[in-house]
Amino acid sequence: MSQNGSRVEQTKKLFRGIRPAVLPSLLLCDFANLQREVERLEEAGVEALHLDVMDGQFVPNLTYGMPIVESLRKITSLKIDVHLMIAKPESYAKAFVDAGADLITFHIEAHRQPVQLLDEIRSLGVAAGLAINPSTPMDWLIGFVPNCDLVLIMSVQAGFGGQAFNPIALQRLKMLREAYGPELLLEVDGGINCQTTPDVTSHGADLLVVGSAIFREADYCQAMTRLRCNFKPFGAQSDA
Ligand code: DX5
Ligand code: ZN
Repeated sequence: MSQNGSRVEQTKKLFRGIRPAVLPSLLLCDFANLQREVERLEEAGVEALHLDVMDGQFVPNLTYGMPIVESLRKITSLKIDVHLMIAKPESYAKAFVDAGADLITFHIEAHRQPVQLLDEIRSLGVAAGLAINPSTPMDWLIGFVPNCDLVLIMSVQAGFGGQAFNPIALQRLKMLREAYGPELLLEVDGGINCQTTPDVTSHGADLLVVGSAIFREADYCQAMTRLRCNFKPFGAQSDA
């Protein structure tokens, strides 16, 4: 296996070993004090950072690009998970690899024939995955799952933090877990909090992206403890 191929396997092995992992989404954080925020998140025991890249075209919101990834790469050894909510992921994916991403997901709604881009990202040593909005039919994505290291199931419509959880994500998580087994990393993103954590973990989620349930709390350690105490094993009875 190539050096880049083994780098991808190491990333996947890390997350398989700590599943479910909590990934704070850097959208609602205090960007005026980013280094301090990262230190607080590390102290709280997060396992990776989720960066929400938005271009104002694919989603009606605009956030940040490669410079933030480059800056974070210099100050943390946490894995960096880049969520590309952009219209032309094929034009920017390599730039985010070069900036220091360890995982990259892009939306099937923005790139309908994703195999070549998934392979390109992986060949550069970065785990590659597809993201899908709740309103998009799963048959847009299902044929490409074998080409993915991870699949990001959105439980809100991409674009903003603080939205309500859409339970359609649960049957999607369960279907993928049952169809592809433990190999496939499943990520869920949007409205993840103490109420929804039991449901998403018992339906198979490995990577839990959390924004407001962390950043709206004064104490990140307490927020993480509250989230973690609600994890359930795959298949456990949950309210959903
Ligand atoms: C939405 C982003 C999510 C969002 C999560 O487009 O992809 O990562 O920031 O925020 P909460 O956890 O507040 O829903
Ligand atoms: Zn996200």
